[in-house]
Amino acid sequence: MKGMKILLVDDEPLMRMSMVDALEAVGHDVRAAASGTEGIEVVKQKTFDLVITDLRLPGADGLTVMKAAKEQSPHVEVVVITAHGSVETAVGAMKLGAFDYITKPFQMEELLLIVERVGRVIRLRCEDRDFQEKPDDTFTFGGMLGVGSRMQGVLDKVKTIAEADSPVLITGESGTGKDAVANAIHQNSPRRQYPMVKVSCASLSEKRLDAELFGYEKGAFPDAMRLRRGRLELANRGTLFLDEIAASSPGIQAKLLRVLQSGKFERLGGKQILETDVRLVCATQRDLQHEVAEERFNADLLFLLNGVSLMLPPLRKRAEDIMVIADHLLKLNAVKAGKVIEGFSLGAKDLLTRYSFPGNIRELERMVERSVAMVGDGETIQPFDLCGHQSCPFAGGTPNEACEFCKEGLSSVASTDRSMNSLADAREEFEKRYIASVVEQAGGNRAAASKILKLSHKALSEKCKRYGISFSDEDQDLKG
Ligand SMILES: Nc1ncnc2c1ncn2[C@@H]1O[C@H](COP(=O)(O)OP(=O)(O)OP(=O)(O)O)[C@@H](O)[C@H]1O
Ligand SMILES: [Mg+2]
Repeated sequence: MKGMKILLVDDEPLMRMSMVDALEAVGHDVRAAASGTEGIEVVKQKTFDLVITDLRLPGADGLTVMKAAKEQSPHVEVVVITAHGSVETAVGAMKLGAFDYITKPFQMEELLLIVERVGRVIRLRCEDRDFQEKPDDTFTFGGMLGVGSRMQGVLDKVKTIAEADSPVLITGESGTGKDAVANAIHQNSPRRQYPMVKVSCASLSEKRLDAELFGYEKGAFPDAMRLRRGRLELANRGTLFLDEIAASSPGIQAKLLRVLQSGKFERLGGKQILETDVRLVCATQRDLQHEVAEERFNADLLFLLNGVSLMLPPLRKRAEDIMVIADHLLKLNAVKAGKVIEGFSLGAKDLLTRYSFPGNIRELERMVERSVAMVGDGETIQPFDLCGHQSCPFAGGTPNEACEFCKEGLSSVASTDRSMNSLADAREEFEKRYIASVVEQAGGNRAAASKILKLSHKALSEKCKRYGISFSDEDQDLKG
């Protein structure tokens, strides 16, 4: 999020100036203060999105600045800067509500990375609020959901197409909803009381597909012991849905063209010309223009199908839909599992809205289903519930084995900090932040954190020692 209002409190003039420069260079509106007392004065006069404060300051310290800022506006996020070796204080600040901490000396890009994350969380929070205030923004048609103009346009078109009687071509990547749209078209068409028959062209050999579609007479081929009607006959007066039409052979395409033009066809081995009245709805993941150019698809058939065509955008191009669909799926799955689930944590929402979803809505469905199975009654879905963690780095696997979700997380860490040049560095940074967040969510409880992370107590303790992360039972040990 660009243009955040940021207050920066640091008593070292050089440090302060370079941080102000770096933050202003990426478009933020920055106010600087040289002491804790000045910082407190400023937060009383003006509201900020983010306060970045050194912990050790002359006058009031960073924690006091944080407290004052949160008193003035509870939504303000605070990032604390801590000296090397005093990570415990920073962890303490996080327990009191700081968003994150950064240890001196640090690269400016490290700070910018944290600020960028704060921006994303603020944006999500605003969207959450907007969504709750404007539920009418979401619309649904035939069990499909959408929000925003892109999907609204698509679903409006589905509604119009359903009422017409022309053939339809639906294109889109895997899992974008081609089947769902075909169902919605049939269910909302004048043919709805007649059958909808589906044939998947990609899963049958050429001969089987021919026989399935057109049927055969007894004796048409050695296995044809009796007459069998084809799907074209079974779908009479209804809709025939041909999935992955591009996988059909030129011979079949030519026969389908004839059906479209005249409604006429013959069974295999038959001489009698039969007639059928079907509406053809076809789907494909491929670019049929390209298939025609490569002479793999019948140009005339494409011409007829293309009259009414619908292109379903991949989920990554309609990120505005992700949370609407995810929330809807969460409710459905929670009811099925008999659980009350609070929703997605801000971190989980952040990952969901940034992930590219190569498997589109189907992948989102599986992810939500698995997450609901992972969380307990009354809990919130966290980022690690989404990924499932079978062999990803958090479960002790190597980055090569990371699930797609975690790989993207790793690459986003690596790409934002140019000082890291190896995957091992990126993984370590990611692991450190991740473990810190889990330990925090587990309230500093070692047993709970190691259970979530699926790490032994020993392995977790070693990692935490290396990363300077402490547990509440350690605090007790110290006190005791
Ligand atoms: N807009 C939507 N809102 C909610 N759920 C949707 C939406 N579109 C599709 N779905 C759901 O997403 C899942 C995948 O959709 P569908 O099977 O229709 O995809 P597809 O494009 O046919 O995929 P494939 O190419 O792999 O056959 C289905 O469970 C479907 O109900
Ligand atoms: Mg499909």
